[in-house]
Amino acid sequence: MRELGVGLLGCGTVGTGVIRLLNDAGLAERVGAALSVRAVVVRDLERDRDPVVPVDCLTDDLHRVIDAPDIDIVVEVMGGIDPAHGAIEKALSNGKQVVTANKALLALHGDSLFALAQKNSADLLFEASAAGGVPVVRALRESLASDRVVSIHGIINGTSNYVLTRMETLGESLDDAVTKAQEAGYAEADPSFDVGGQDAAQKLQVLSALAFGLSMSTEVQRVQGIDSIQPADFTHAASFGYRIKPLAVARGGENAVESWVGPALVPMNHVLAGVNDVFNACYLKSEAVGPLLFYGQGAGMMPTAMSVVSDVIEAGRKLAAGAPGGSLPAVQSEAVADSSSSEPQSVQEQPWYLRLCCRDQPGVLGRVAATLGGHGVSINKLVQKNAADASSAEVVILTHVAGTDSVRAAVAEIDNTADTTQPTLIMPVEDPA
Ligand code: NAP
Ligand code: HSE
Repeated sequence: MRELGVGLLGCGTVGTGVIRLLNDAGLAERVGAALSVRAVVVRDLERDRDPVVPVDCLTDDLHRVIDAPDIDIVVEVMGGIDPAHGAIEKALSNGKQVVTANKALLALHGDSLFALAQKNSADLLFEASAAGGVPVVRALRESLASDRVVSIHGIINGTSNYVLTRMETLGESLDDAVTKAQEAGYAEADPSFDVGGQDAAQKLQVLSALAFGLSMSTEVQRVQGIDSIQPADFTHAASFGYRIKPLAVARGGENAVESWVGPALVPMNHVLAGVNDVFNACYLKSEAVGPLLFYGQGAGMMPTAMSVVSDVIEAGRKLAAGAPGGSLPAVQSEAVADSSSSEPQSVQEQPWYLRLCCRDQPGVLGRVAATLGGHGVSINKLVQKNAADASSAEVVILTHVAGTDSVRAAVAEIDNTADTTQPTLIMPVEDPA
């Protein structure tokens, strides 16, 4: 049986899990060739490694993988932009099959890397780049190639879902929950990418490219982090019949896609409201099949490694069959992608959750209501709670259906007065139905 050489760029949380799975002797039959790990690039050769890591393969020389004739499949699990970008470019130019989990890199340079893969009859596979162990990339790339996706509602950052779940159910602080996510291997090297929504936005760029044919570098229109959520928000949301979830949403229009990332109120009885901890879910709607749900662990060593190794198997099968390349039918070429746009044709209207910290003085609530009304935003429910210092009050408002622009303009006007003492928290109420 033919033996294929595998080289890893990176051997941290994900890379260690990849080596563990590649040690399964049963893989050879599934691939049609044996897979042999021949080189593992790391930054620090002195660092203690899991016993599964073959120490004789460790190197700090990228060229041992990207330029070596005995490496057929390159697995990039180092993360970041440089040197990962140049290394993948070189590996593809050398005609190697490449597997990556790096959504940050794909969101920035995906289009040119896919073009390079095509030019060199190589594959660039990226299942683990969105939703960790949930096989949604392959589903969009292959299973849904016959359908037209209408919308994506995803919980696609495991860390922020884990953090919000712990804040809500255990009363833990955001900082403590982030530390636990780091210890569990869920968080990015810079966890502010998880908390701030950028990681989910990068993943949504990857998924939107597959679902709607956008360029992978088409930026998400609005990105909001989870760092302004306070314990009282969970209680208020529950009293209105909702849970707060870190959503990533993209909706296709005729020539445009509306996309945003941020915490949102999801109806308590919707399946996404029950997605907790590090679990991810992608609730897709497409024209022929209707709603589809993909659910599983979105981060962590073994779930992510499973996705990476599923790509290694696909890359290996193609080499074993003597036909690498051509795995990107749903990713647009740069020329086509440039003509697609993420500019919304008409922005979806929905109800909104507003938490204002108001001065507790006569006339304040009246002015807040008048400003909202002036922008066509109508109040559905309102709760007021006095703050401990008695000089301010927490006012929580659930609006009727209103447009993003109207709500944001009204809140900007309110926050520009002395009536509020902190920036108002705005969250959409999103019912994926
Ligand atoms: P990690 O634990 O920080 O591991 C990174 C590895 O890359 C380490 O082995 C590190 O070497 C090596 N490395 C980093 N910079 C390097 C450089 N300049 N030269 C040589 N080696 C370098 O990261 P991870 O959590 O495994 O994540 C890896 C990738 O997978 C990222 O793109 C991430 O976004 C993605 N991902 C992660 C998860 C997850 O749950 N963790 C899930 C999905 C996708 P040392 O060991 O010597 O430090
Ligand atoms: N930091 C990411 C998350 C890893 O928490 O979802 C998976 O991509």
